[in-house]
Amino acid sequence: MRIRTIQPSETWEIRHKVMWPDKPVEFVQLEEDNLGSHFGVFEQEKLVSIVSCFVVNQEMQFRKLATLEEYQGKGIASELLNYIFKIAKEQDLRKIWCNARSNKKSFYEKFGMIDTGEIFVKEGQEFTIMEILL
Ligand SMILES: CC(C)(COP(=O)(O)OP(=O)(O)OC[C@H]1O[C@@H](n2cnc3c(N)ncnc32)[C@H](O)[C@@H]1OP(=O)(O)O)[C@@H](O)C(=O)NCCC(=O)NCCS
Repeated sequence: MRIRTIQPSETWEIRHKVMWPDKPVEFVQLEEDNLGSHFGVFEQEKLVSIVSCFVVNQEMQFRKLATLEEYQGKGIASELLNYIFKIAKEQDLRKIWCNARSNKKSFYEKFGMIDTGEIFVKEGQEFTIMEILL
C-alpha cells in the first residue's frame, strides 16, 4: 500500500463508482477541487482509495473518502485517514471535520471524531457533521 498526492481529476472515477453511481460523472466534479489537496492509496500501482482535503481558517475538511468496493474492509481508508490527520497535526491545524454519512458515524468515532449533532439530508442521504479538535 502506498499513499501519495493525486490530481483532482484522478479522484473522479472512484467518487463516481463508489459514492454516486446513479448520477452523471459531473456530479462528483467539485468546483472547489482545484483548491484542495487530494490523496490516493495505491495497491500495485492501482488507485483504490481516495480522499480530498480543504483547509480554511486552520480547519481541515475532508471530503469524498471512498475505497473501491473490492478493497473495502482491509484498513485502507483507515490508513488514509491516519495519513491526513498526521498532515493536519504537522500543519498545526486546530480542527478536522467532515460531513459524514450518518451510517458511517461509528467508523469516524474510531478516530476520535465527535458527532456535532448537526444533521442534514442531501440527495436522500442523511449526513451528520463530525469533528475532532487537535
Ligand atoms: C467508508 C469507506 C471509505 C471505508 O473504506 P475502507 O477502506 O473499507 O475502510 P477500512 O477498511 O479502513 O474500515 C472499514 C471497516 O473495516 C474495519 N477494518 C479496518 N481494518 C481492518 C482490517 N485490517 N481487516 C478487517 N477490517 C478492518 C474498520 O474498523 C471498519 O469497520 P466499521 O465499518 O465497522 O467501522 C468505504 O466503505 C466506502 O468507500 N464507502 C462508500 C463511500 C462512503 O460511504 N464514504 C464515506 C462517506 S462519509
